[in-house]
Amino acid sequence: SVPGPLAGRHVLVTSGPTHEPIDPVRYIANRSSGKQGHAIAAAAAKAGARVTLVSGPVNLPDPVGVTVHHVETARQMQAAVDGALPADAAIFAAAVADWRVASEAGEKMKKDGGALPALALTENPDILAGVAQRTEGRPRLVVGFAAETQNVVAYATAKRARKGCDWIVANDVSAQSGIEGGVMGGDRNAVHLISAEGVEPWPVASKTQVAERLVARIAAFLGSETSS
Ligand code: C5P
Repeated sequence: SVPGPLAGRHVLVTSGPTHEPIDPVRYIANRSSGKQGHAIAAAAAKAGARVTLVSGPVNLPDPVGVTVHHVETARQMQAAVDGALPADAAIFAAAVADWRVASEAGEKMKKDGGALPALALTENPDILAGVAQRTEGRPRLVVGFAAETQNVVAYATAKRARKGCDWIVANDVSAQSGIEGGVMGGDRNAVHLISAEGVEPWPVASKTQVAERLVARIAAFLGSETSS
Protein backbone atom coordinates (compact mmCIF):
# COMPACT_ATOMS: atom_id res chain seq x y z
CA SER A 1 0.00 0.00 0.00
CA VAL A 2 0.95 3.65 -0.34
CA PRO A 3 2.96 4.88 2.64
CA GLY A 4 1.33 7.71 4.56
CA PRO A 5 -0.30 8.64 7.85
CA LEU A 6 -3.17 6.18 7.22
CA ALA A 7 -1.06 3.28 5.90
CA GLY A 8 -2.47 -0.04 7.09
CA ARG A 9 -5.84 1.47 8.02
CA HIS A 10 -9.21 0.67 6.47
CA VAL A 11 -11.44 3.72 6.05
CA LEU A 12 -15.10 3.40 5.06
CA VAL A 13 -16.92 6.38 3.54
CA THR A 14 -20.53 6.86 2.42
CA SER A 15 -21.32 9.54 -0.13
CA GLY A 16 -24.03 10.94 -2.37
CA PRO A 17 -27.80 10.81 -2.13
CA THR A 18 -29.97 7.73 -2.14
CA HIS A 19 -32.77 7.13 -4.63
CA GLU A 20 -35.92 5.57 -3.23
CA PRO A 21 -38.13 4.07 -5.93
CA ILE A 22 -41.80 4.96 -6.26
CA ASP A 23 -42.34 2.75 -9.29
CA PRO A 24 -39.97 1.41 -11.98
CA VAL A 25 -39.44 4.90 -13.48
CA ARG A 26 -39.82 7.34 -10.56
CA TYR A 27 -37.93 7.93 -7.34
CA ILE A 28 -37.52 10.22 -4.32
CA ALA A 29 -34.08 11.85 -4.04
CA ASN A 30 -32.26 14.91 -2.66
CA ARG A 31 -29.72 17.47 -3.84
CA SER A 32 -26.53 15.85 -2.54
CA SER A 33 -23.76 15.88 -5.18
CA GLY A 34 -21.40 13.51 -3.38
CA LYS A 35 -18.54 16.00 -3.76
CA GLN A 36 -17.62 16.16 -0.07
CA GLY A 37 -17.82 12.40 0.52
CA HIS A 38 -15.87 11.56 -2.62
CA ALA A 39 -13.22 14.14 -1.65
CA ILE A 40 -12.85 12.45 1.76
CA ALA A 41 -12.44 9.02 0.14
CA ALA A 42 -9.81 10.42 -2.25
CA ALA A 43 -7.94 12.19 0.57
CA ALA A 44 -7.92 9.04 2.73
CA ALA A 45 -6.51 7.02 -0.18
CA LYS A 46 -3.84 9.67 -0.75
CA ALA A 47 -2.95 9.33 2.93
CA GLY A 48 -2.28 5.63 2.39
CA ALA A 49 -5.50 4.07 3.70
CA ARG A 50 -7.36 1.19 2.11
CA VAL A 51 -10.61 2.94 1.30
CA THR A 52 -14.09 1.55 0.67
CA LEU A 53 -16.55 4.09 -0.70
CA VAL A 54 -20.26 3.26 -0.69
CA SER A 55 -21.82 5.73 -3.08
CA GLY A 56 -25.37 6.56 -4.03
CA PRO A 57 -26.09 7.78 -7.58
CA VAL A 58 -23.71 10.68 -8.40
CA ASN A 59 -22.24 12.30 -11.49
CA LEU A 60 -18.66 11.91 -10.29
CA PRO A 61 -15.87 9.57 -11.33
CA ASP A 62 -14.78 6.87 -8.90
CA PRO A 63 -11.83 8.27 -6.88
CA VAL A 64 -8.50 6.76 -7.89
CA GLY A 65 -7.27 3.93 -5.69
CA VAL A 66 -10.60 3.46 -3.91
CA THR A 67 -12.90 0.41 -3.90
CA VAL A 68 -16.34 1.75 -4.80
CA HIS A 69 -19.68 0.05 -4.20
CA HIS A 70 -22.46 1.73 -6.18
CA VAL A 71 -25.89 1.58 -4.59
CA GLU A 72 -29.26 3.25 -5.12
CA THR A 73 -31.35 2.93 -1.97
CA ALA A 74 -30.73 3.42 1.75
CA ARG A 75 -31.24 -0.27 2.39
CA GLN A 76 -28.67 -1.18 -0.27
CA MET A 77 -26.28 1.37 1.27
CA GLN A 78 -26.75 -0.20 4.70
CA ALA A 79 -26.07 -3.69 3.34
CA ALA A 80 -22.92 -2.48 1.55
CA VAL A 81 -21.69 -0.72 4.72
CA ASP A 82 -22.29 -3.82 6.84
CA GLY A 83 -20.47 -5.91 4.24
CA ALA A 84 -17.48 -3.55 4.18
CA LEU A 85 -16.88 -3.60 7.96
CA PRO A 86 -14.62 -3.95 9.89
CA ALA A 87 -12.99 -0.57 9.44
CA ASP A 88 -10.73 1.59 11.58
CA ALA A 89 -12.76 4.70 10.79
CA ALA A 90 -16.16 5.22 9.14
CA ILE A 91 -17.27 8.57 7.75
CA PHE A 92 -20.94 8.95 6.87
CA ALA A 93 -21.13 11.79 4.37
CA ALA A 94 -24.09 10.42 2.40
CA ALA A 95 -27.39 12.29 2.39
CA VAL A 96 -29.55 9.25 3.01
CA ALA A 97 -33.25 9.69 2.27
CA ASP A 98 -35.15 9.71 5.54
CA TRP A 99 -38.13 7.97 4.02
CA ARG A 100 -38.91 5.48 1.30
CA VAL A 101 -42.22 4.57 -0.28
CA ALA A 102 -43.83 1.88 1.86
CA SER A 103 -44.74 -0.34 -1.09
CA GLU A 104 -43.03 0.31 -4.40
CA ALA A 105 -45.37 -0.19 -7.37
CA GLY A 106 -44.28 -3.07 -9.57
CA GLU A 107 -45.52 -1.33 -12.73
CA LYS A 108 -45.47 2.32 -13.77
CA MET A 109 -48.29 4.19 -12.03
CA LYS A 110 -50.78 5.60 -14.53
CA LYS A 111 -52.28 9.08 -14.35
CA ASP A 112 -55.44 8.15 -16.23
CA GLY A 113 -58.31 7.32 -13.95
CA GLY A 114 -58.75 10.60 -12.09
CA ALA A 115 -57.81 10.02 -8.47
CA LEU A 116 -54.39 11.33 -7.39
CA PRO A 117 -52.08 8.66 -6.01
CA ALA A 118 -51.17 8.91 -2.32
CA LEU A 119 -47.60 7.97 -1.39
CA ALA A 120 -47.41 6.18 1.94
CA LEU A 121 -43.90 6.56 3.35
CA THR A 122 -41.93 4.51 5.83
CA GLU A 123 -38.71 5.37 7.65
CA ASN A 124 -35.34 4.23 6.33
CA PRO A 125 -32.77 2.62 8.63
CA ASP A 126 -30.29 5.08 10.17
CA ILE A 127 -27.02 3.66 8.85
CA LEU A 128 -24.76 5.91 10.91
CA ALA A 129 -26.59 5.26 14.19
CA GLY A 130 -26.56 1.52 13.52
CA VAL A 131 -22.78 1.46 13.13
CA ALA A 132 -22.10 3.96 15.93
CA GLN A 133 -24.18 1.92 18.39
CA ARG A 134 -22.68 -1.47 17.54
CA THR A 135 -21.44 -3.36 20.55
CA GLU A 136 -19.21 -5.56 18.37
CA GLY A 137 -17.17 -4.52 15.38
CA ARG A 138 -17.60 -0.79 15.91
CA PRO A 139 -14.96 1.27 14.08
CA ARG A 140 -12.73 3.10 16.56
CA LEU A 141 -13.82 6.38 15.00
CA VAL A 142 -17.33 7.01 13.69
CA VAL A 143 -17.95 10.37 12.02
CA GLY A 144 -21.34 11.74 10.98
CA PHE A 145 -22.34 14.80 9.02
CA ALA A 146 -25.05 17.28 9.87
CA ALA A 147 -26.43 19.57 7.20
CA GLU A 148 -28.61 22.18 8.82
CA THR A 149 -30.18 25.44 7.73
CA GLN A 150 -30.42 26.99 11.22
CA ASN A 151 -29.02 26.55 14.78
CA VAL A 152 -26.25 24.51 13.16
CA VAL A 153 -24.05 23.89 16.19
CA ALA A 154 -26.87 23.22 18.66
CA TYR A 155 -28.63 20.75 16.38
CA ALA A 156 -25.36 19.04 15.46
CA THR A 157 -24.28 18.70 19.08
CA ALA A 158 -27.62 17.06 19.92
CA LYS A 159 -27.27 14.85 16.84
CA ARG A 160 -23.85 13.63 17.97
CA ALA A 161 -25.31 12.42 21.27
CA ARG A 162 -28.43 10.92 19.71
CA LYS A 163 -26.57 8.98 17.04
CA GLY A 164 -23.73 7.84 19.31
CA CYS A 165 -20.98 8.88 16.91
CA ASP A 166 -17.62 10.33 17.93
CA TRP A 167 -17.49 13.39 15.70
CA ILE A 168 -20.00 15.40 13.73
CA VAL A 169 -18.97 17.57 10.81
CA ALA A 170 -21.68 20.22 10.79
CA ASN A 171 -22.36 22.53 7.90
CA ASP A 172 -24.76 25.33 7.15
CA VAL A 173 -26.50 24.50 3.89
CA SER A 174 -28.82 27.53 4.00
CA ALA A 175 -28.69 30.26 1.38
CA GLN A 176 -27.38 32.50 4.21
CA SER A 177 -24.22 30.43 4.66
CA GLY A 178 -22.27 33.12 2.80
CA ILE A 179 -20.96 30.59 0.30
CA GLU A 180 -21.62 31.72 -3.23
CA GLY A 181 -23.66 29.19 -5.17
CA GLY A 182 -24.49 27.32 -1.94
CA VAL A 183 -22.95 24.31 -0.22
CA MET A 184 -25.19 21.68 -1.81
CA GLY A 185 -23.60 20.85 -5.16
CA GLY A 186 -20.98 23.58 -4.74
CA ASP A 187 -17.21 23.27 -4.39
CA ARG A 188 -16.77 25.07 -1.07
CA ASN A 189 -17.80 24.26 2.45
CA ALA A 190 -17.75 25.89 5.90
CA VAL A 191 -17.97 23.39 8.73
CA HIS A 192 -17.68 22.97 12.47
CA LEU A 193 -16.04 19.85 13.87
CA ILE A 194 -17.97 18.72 16.94
CA SER A 195 -16.39 16.17 19.26
CA ALA A 196 -16.38 15.32 22.96
CA GLU A 197 -13.73 18.03 23.32
CA GLY A 198 -16.00 20.75 22.01
CA VAL A 199 -16.80 22.76 18.91
CA GLU A 200 -14.16 23.82 16.40
CA PRO A 201 -15.12 26.22 13.61
CA TRP A 202 -13.16 25.64 10.40
CA PRO A 203 -12.64 28.40 7.84
CA VAL A 204 -14.46 28.34 4.51
CA ALA A 205 -12.43 26.13 2.20
CA SER A 206 -12.78 23.93 -0.84
CA LYS A 207 -14.36 20.53 -0.24
CA THR A 208 -10.96 19.02 -1.08
CA GLN A 209 -9.29 21.12 1.64
CA VAL A 210 -12.00 20.21 4.16
CA ALA A 211 -11.46 16.54 3.26
CA GLU A 212 -7.68 16.79 3.69
CA ARG A 213 -8.05 18.51 7.04
CA LEU A 214 -10.53 15.89 8.23
CA VAL A 215 -8.29 13.04 7.04
CA ALA A 216 -5.31 14.57 8.88
CA ARG A 217 -7.42 14.66 12.06
CA ILE A 218 -8.51 11.06 11.55
CA ALA A 219 -4.88 9.98 11.11
CA ALA A 220 -3.88 11.83 14.28
CA PHE A 221 -6.74 10.20 16.20
CA LEU A 222 -6.02 6.66 14.98
CA GLY A 223 -2.30 7.15 15.48
CA SER A 224 -2.75 8.27 19.06
CA GLU A 225 -5.03 5.39 20.04
CA THR A 226 -3.72 1.89 20.64
CA SER A 227 -5.62 -0.81 18.78
CA SER A 228 -5.31 -3.63 21.34
O1 C5P B 1 -30.38 12.63 10.96
P1 C5P B 1 -29.63 13.22 9.81
O2 C5P B 1 -30.03 12.68 8.48
O3 C5P B 1 -29.55 14.72 9.82
O4 C5P B 1 -28.12 12.74 10.07
C1 C5P B 1 -27.12 12.97 9.16
C2 C5P B 1 -26.01 11.96 9.36
O5 C5P B 1 -26.55 10.65 9.52
C3 C5P B 1 -25.11 11.86 8.15
O6 C5P B 1 -23.83 11.47 8.61
C4 C5P B 1 -25.78 10.76 7.33
O7 C5P B 1 -24.86 10.15 6.46
C5 C5P B 1 -26.25 9.82 8.42
N1 C5P B 1 -27.47 9.08 8.09
C6 C5P B 1 -27.42 7.72 7.83
N2 C5P B 1 -28.59 7.03 7.58
C7 C5P B 1 -29.78 7.67 7.57
C8 C5P B 1 -29.84 9.06 7.81
C9 C5P B 1 -28.67 9.73 8.07
O8 C5P B 1 -26.34 7.14 7.84
N3 C5P B 1 -30.89 6.99 7.31
